Amino acid sequence: MTNRRRSLLTRRELLAASAALGAVAAWPRLARPAAPAFTDHPFQLGLSSGFPTDRSVVLWTRLAPDPLAADGLGGMPPQDVTLRWELAADEQFRRIERRGEIIASAVNAHSARVVVDHLQPARDYWYRFMAGDEVSGTARTRTLPAANRELRDFRIAIANCQHFEHGQWAAYRHIARSAPDLTLHIGDYIYEGATTPNRVRAHAGGQCMTLTDYRRRYAQYQMDPALQMAHAAGPWISTWDDHEVENDYSGLYSGRAAEPAAFATRRAAAYQAYFEHLPLPPTAAPVDGAVALYASRRIGRLADLYMLDQRQYRSAQACPQKGRAGGNRVGDDCLELQSESRTMLGAAQETWFDAQLKQARGQWNLLAQGTVFSQVDEQIGAGHRYATDNWNGYPAARRRVLDALQRRRVKNPVIFSGDIHAFIAANIGTVPDQPDSTPLATEIVSASISSDARPQQQFEDWLKENPNLLLAEGRYRGYVALRLSPQRLQADLMALDDRDNPQSAQRVLQSLVIEAGVPKIQRA
Ligand SMILES: [Fe+2]
Repeated sequence: MTNRRRSLLTRRELLAASAALGAVAAWPRLARPAAPAFTDHPFQLGLSSGFPTDRSVVLWTRLAPDPLAADGLGGMPPQDVTLRWELAADEQFRRIERRGEIIASAVNAHSARVVVDHLQPARDYWYRFMAGDEVSGTARTRTLPAANRELRDFRIAIANCQHFEHGQWAAYRHIARSAPDLTLHIGDYIYEGATTPNRVRAHAGGQCMTLTDYRRRYAQYQMDPALQMAHAAGPWISTWDDHEVENDYSGLYSGRAAEPAAFATRRAAAYQAYFEHLPLPPTAAPVDGAVALYASRRIGRLADLYMLDQRQYRSAQACPQKGRAGGNRVGDDCLELQSESRTMLGAAQETWFDAQLKQARGQWNLLAQGTVFSQVDEQIGAGHRYATDNWNGYPAARRRVLDALQRRRVKNPVIFSGDIHAFIAANIGTVPDQPDSTPLATEIVSASISSDARPQQQFEDWLKENPNLLLAEGRYRGYVALRLSPQRLQADLMALDDRDNPQSAQRVLQSLVIEAGVPKIQRA
């Protein structure tokens, strides 16, 4: 398919998205002096918005008339380009509330982000960008409710793990149609691997190692029309897991035992590309290869949200296989596992998190992060076997999180996780394998948007061995649709009928309910 046809398709898809959201598609040709002469439509990666507060939101786009260009620069010349942007109170852009100019700089691959502030709380806005004679599609965003407001209802979609080769992303069409107040992405927005044969779609290029490789990978992912629809439907807040860089990496340790300096260079390239392609605030701009990603938000008095980064600051996984690095499954003979000094969040983030909890006011406290938190013993019968790449590999760090929740008397903590490509519901008590011990928190793990899961039999074994798990279902691709009220949290586990069909229907596989004041998950 040529780029031009791809561009038209993307436009049509975006128009369809706008129509689905009740918008009137607007493609005005503005008579303004052209910046560069684009070889093709430069907004083929779509628009997004993110990290809203009650007063502000970040708007994002990237100019890329030839998204998969071999140099990773998306078909752009090496000069910076001035973009214009507009934010309107209505879908037709009759009431433009704000407009301005922003530089799309070559060093950031002509990505651009605008922080629009002094907005009204809990309001829809529409935005678009213009470069020369070219005008982007339009997208909706929404501010959070005012921090002191009593709210009766708030809807969040939770997505993760979108391996491009493993399936189509129909889940994102459904998320877009449902127009949630907020979408959370909790890791594996891209996968770094090379092309694998005989899948429904193929990665362009080999294993991502350089900034050029990662830029092209993001460009390929973001050309997907369903992903563009979900970004255009409302604001996102994202955190990452491992595949944004490399499978099973931790901190500055490669998951494949790569030489440390080489891995640091690779990680810095991957972080730069993540920053360039997601609607992160400018405060998340990489500094010396580090990105300040973790964040909290108040959602009225209804909820406090904590987006945690459990990759960047980790200790290396305990007891790796001989001659290897990364995750493993270990038994009680792995003494390193229990070391108090091992960390998942890093000392600074732990301190920040505790300070956040001290100020918590929400009826619900939502922790969103990449990997399974609950204790899962994978050894059937006597003895234990723990996966070392999720919180089971960092039991002291997990204990510190639970201690902080208890010490700060945080109301209704619910942990949202990904990574495992399965729906899991778990109650977290003071004694993990005793369901009647004092309940502390609950966990809901979202299935993948498209990534493969392990065989269901393994999850059935988990259920037999771990009474803290209520549900473990790896047969469906999908996401979690969350609905919050002061009295209850409802999490609908949304499952696609056919992962290979970009238009697949979905259904509610299971509705889970948590009543406020009772940290136990029930099936609705
Ligand atoms: Fe994943």
